[in-house]
Amino acid sequence: MRFYAAAVSSEPFSHPNDLLTVREVVARTGVVPSALRFYEARGLITAERNHGNQRLYRRHMLRRISLVLAARRLGIPLADVAEIFTTLPADGPPSHRDWVRVSRGWKRQLAERRRYIVNLERQLTACIGCGCLSMKLCDLLNPDDRLRTRGQGPVRLHDPSDSKDGP
Ligand code: FES
Repeated sequence: MRFYAAAVSSEPFSHPNDLLTVREVVARTGVVPSALRFYEARGLITAERNHGNQRLYRRHMLRRISLVLAARRLGIPLADVAEIFTTLPADGPPSHRDWVRVSRGWKRQLAERRRYIVNLERQLTACIGCGCLSMKLCDLLNPDDRLRTRGQGPVRLHDPSDSKDGP
């Protein structure tokens, strides 16, 4: 029991409002300092300054940074993430309720991407309506590139309802 108490007392107590240096944030997130400044400029995270004018980040910003990284991997525009983050409190760690509210915006984004990925998977061997006319199914699904009237790019990928026409 005494050993346990000694081990616990030697551990630092961490709190969401702890102030972390740039070096600590970089070490924990893997994000380079210039990216932190960029995220700050875009309103995705906030920093404070110490007496030496060095940036310090509240520990709870690690979650925001992690979600920004996740969004980037999924191709979600940072402007959309910044808009979603505007509903988070500026003066302290977000509560569970705050994140529930934020998750609604994310769910819409993620559902949209899921639909696109499923459609892409289905249509990888079919005509995607890009104007190339290089697949056998192009003759059937996009004769003479008629789909160009529906817009630019792979129009059959952009419209999930088109996947039912594929093989
Ligand atoms: S795959 Fe390009 S038009 Fe059909």
